[in-house]
Amino acid sequence: MNATTASSLESLYHCTDQELDHRIQAARKTLGDNLVILCHHYQREEVYKYADLTGDSLKLSRLASQKSQASFIVFCGVHFMAEVADILSNPNQITLLPDLAAGCSMADMADLPQVEAAWKELGRIIDVESQVTPITYVNSTAELKAFCGIHQGTVCTSSNAGKILRWAFSQRPKVLFFPDQHLGRNSAKQLGIPLEQIVLYQPGLPLGGLTEAAIRNAQVILWNGYCSVHQMFQPAHVALFRQRIPDVRIVVHPECSMEVCDLADDLGSTEQIQQVVRSAPPGSRFAIGTELNLVNRLKHELPDREIHFLCPTICMCSTMFRIDTQHLCWTLENLVQGNIVNRISVPKREAALAKTALERMLAI
Ligand code: 13P
Ligand code: SF4
Repeated sequence: MNATTASSLESLYHCTDQELDHRIQAARKTLGDNLVILCHHYQREEVYKYADLTGDSLKLSRLASQKSQASFIVFCGVHFMAEVADILSNPNQITLLPDLAAGCSMADMADLPQVEAAWKELGRIIDVESQVTPITYVNSTAELKAFCGIHQGTVCTSSNAGKILRWAFSQRPKVLFFPDQHLGRNSAKQLGIPLEQIVLYQPGLPLGGLTEAAIRNAQVILWNGYCSVHQMFQPAHVALFRQRIPDVRIVVHPECSMEVCDLADDLGSTEQIQQVVRSAPPGSRFAIGTELNLVNRLKHELPDREIHFLCPTICMCSTMFRIDTQHLCWTLENLVQGNIVNRISVPKREAALAKTALERMLAI
């Protein structure tokens, strides 16, 4: 970023909301069909209202792969989502993330050297290539998706994890699932895999803190990652709502702990949570365990339903929140001026391997 663009971003913080709105709309109009703005459901309202397309991770991956005619994909989400858009879009399209600091703390919990070391370590006890399918949650770096591409594995999202696990077990008897232990455990449990065959690998500990016997016996080896937002929801919160509102429906994201998910009425991705609430009759009561912006949006959209946030404290995705109207305006105005700022460009070889894993997922 050069000094001129940096100072123009700075100056946008002195604009009123109205001025920003006017400038964003003007830039969109100038860019026309050359621009598509994708927004994840956790995006703050001020930005979400400019979305051309919205979705959960799976829907956004599919949208990015549908080879829209737009030259520029401005992704209002987090880094791994923009990487997926870059990998799945056509080579002439350019993906931009309005603030490069919009990462995902869960995705940062597993990196390639750690996963390669774990693969090697497990390989001393079992024949990993013939016995283990690596599955990475889409909330991961492109290099981990590439690792899954190389080792006959795939990617999953919160809306297809069960289906992907079933596919994996049709290939090999074991799965290494990273980085989110909760999505892995909740999905494996739903398939009927006994808890003693779902084990937790803790990088940094010898054998991940497991015994050789536990590794040999395991069907699912989970990475010790988690989402700092979803770990805030606790079984006590569910109990409190059940006590206060006897007919309440508890709907949570599968990144919540098993203890919370076991008590819930419905589990689902952000898109699925919205479908559950939207399809319920007026008067229905819900307590929802996922990021606050999505829950507040549902509250405004459906005033004839009683919608509560499951946690008494605020659980927000602080990295998603970094994308604000100032960064969006700055990114779009730079595009109008012919400057590409904050481009997300996955290196070619890594992108090709990650694409193999992602396309495997989209085909399953
Ligand atoms: P979804 O795929 O359900 O949108 O989830 C993405 C995510 O990061 C949830 O924390
Ligand atoms: Fe990552 Fe959690 Fe934010 Fe989702 S809510 S993007 S998992 S930090």
